[in-house]
Amino acid sequence: MQFWKPLAVLALAGATMPAFAADCATEIDANDQMQFSKSSIEVPASCKQFKLTLKHTGKFPKAAMGHNWVLTTTTDYAGVAKDGMAASLETDFLKAGDTRVVAHTKVIGGGESDTVSFDVAKLTAPEYTFFCSFPGHAMMMKGSLKLVK
Ligand code: CO
Repeated sequence: MQFWKPLAVLALAGATMPAFAADCATEIDANDQMQFSKSSIEVPASCKQFKLTLKHTGKFPKAAMGHNWVLTTTTDYAGVAKDGMAASLETDFLKAGDTRVVAHTKVIGGGESDTVSFDVAKLTAPEYTFFCSFPGHAMMMKGSLKLVK
């Protein structure tokens, strides 16, 4: 019965793992082809904070192919993206002090990464959209984020 031993150990480890072991962090990659590696993100409602790490796996500098990760309600998304286009790299292509932004990383270039954490209690709207606010990117670099029980 040697074969079953590792499985039994795994099962035991699983059984003793408490309920708060939900994954309260995720990573998303962005590349030189103007793409995110994920189109949806699920945030467990049991998390207090959720941590997102954005990694730019490309080579282009941020002035040419910069990416950030911006979270808004799906209702606010278009307005925030539009105002972001009129903003500059210095403010991460977001209108300064935009209270519609739930969370955002800074704009990064190839080889860089940035992490943002936010209170899961903030997620009270029915639908959230994440996107890159670099001018012209949001059409391709966009996804949905939802709270899951
Ligand atoms: Co981008």
